[in-house]
Amino acid sequence: MIELHDVHKRLGTREILRGLTLKVPKGMNFVLMGPSGTGKSVTLKHVIGIFKPDRGTVHVDGQDVPSMDNQQLMALRKRMGYLFQNGALINWLTVAENVALPLKEHSRLPRSEVDDRVHQVLGMVGMDHAAQQFPPSISGGMKLRAGLARALVTNPEYVLYDEPNAGLDPIISHQIHELIAEVRDRLSVTGLIVTHSRACAVQCGDRIGILEAGKLAVEGSVDEMVRSEHPLAKAFLGGGAD
Ligand SMILES: Nc1ncnc2c1ncn2[C@@H]1O[C@H](COP(=O)(O)OP(=O)(O)OP(=O)(O)O)[C@@H](O)[C@H]1O
Ligand SMILES: [Mg+2]
Repeated sequence: MIELHDVHKRLGTREILRGLTLKVPKGMNFVLMGPSGTGKSVTLKHVIGIFKPDRGTVHVDGQDVPSMDNQQLMALRKRMGYLFQNGALINWLTVAENVALPLKEHSRLPRSEVDDRVHQVLGMVGMDHAAQQFPPSISGGMKLRAGLARALVTNPEYVLYDEPNAGLDPIISHQIHELIAEVRDRLSVTGLIVTHSRACAVQCGDRIGILEAGKLAVEGSVDEMVRSEHPLAKAFLGGGAD
């Protein structure tokens, strides 16, 4: 379980998080929505220990993240994949080499085992055929699949997804949402998904929370949230939202 309790965080002169409390129980996808610049990415960075709260607590499976030393953080990040916007691949490495990176960072597996694992995870996201291509020559949807493969290669218990469908057309987005739901269902991965997209929230979420003014303004199951009369829920999830 990921648990943030009463998290406050000031960056520069602005207090970005102001008492954020958020719980992601094991096995579910929690969708975090909210206006641009409200601190959604900052929230994800607290979960993997890039940021420490000024006040409040961050726990993963009962372990206090802000007090972890480097070795403990490395261990945490092995259990926690991170899918960056647009995949964030390294252009001069092949898709397969990009996907292998977290394995090289976290373990001293023999080359053949690394190759097997990369092959397996690329197969899972439908990218086996593109293993030897370089990122500049593949489409946005393929980059995202490769980014997802990289997030999954260490067999994590958690994956943090930061805008997994930004810049993708609705058809490719739909495929990515299906993959994210499949990752939860087949691999029992717990997800924290940041998105602006109603389709993403509805297709792969279990619970949705909307961040505003540094805390969750409204939170509920997908069903509750699409029916909610709360103005933010209507803006992000109502009929007019995309
Ligand atoms: N390292 C940093 N130093 C100073 N300010 C930062 C830093 N990182 C983020 N911020 C500020 O914190 C605020 C929240 O940023 P964040 O990236 O979390 O927004 P967001 O909700 O993810 O927005 P978007 O939907 O546009 O991605 C912004 O005002 C941003 O400028
Ligand atoms: Mg962001």
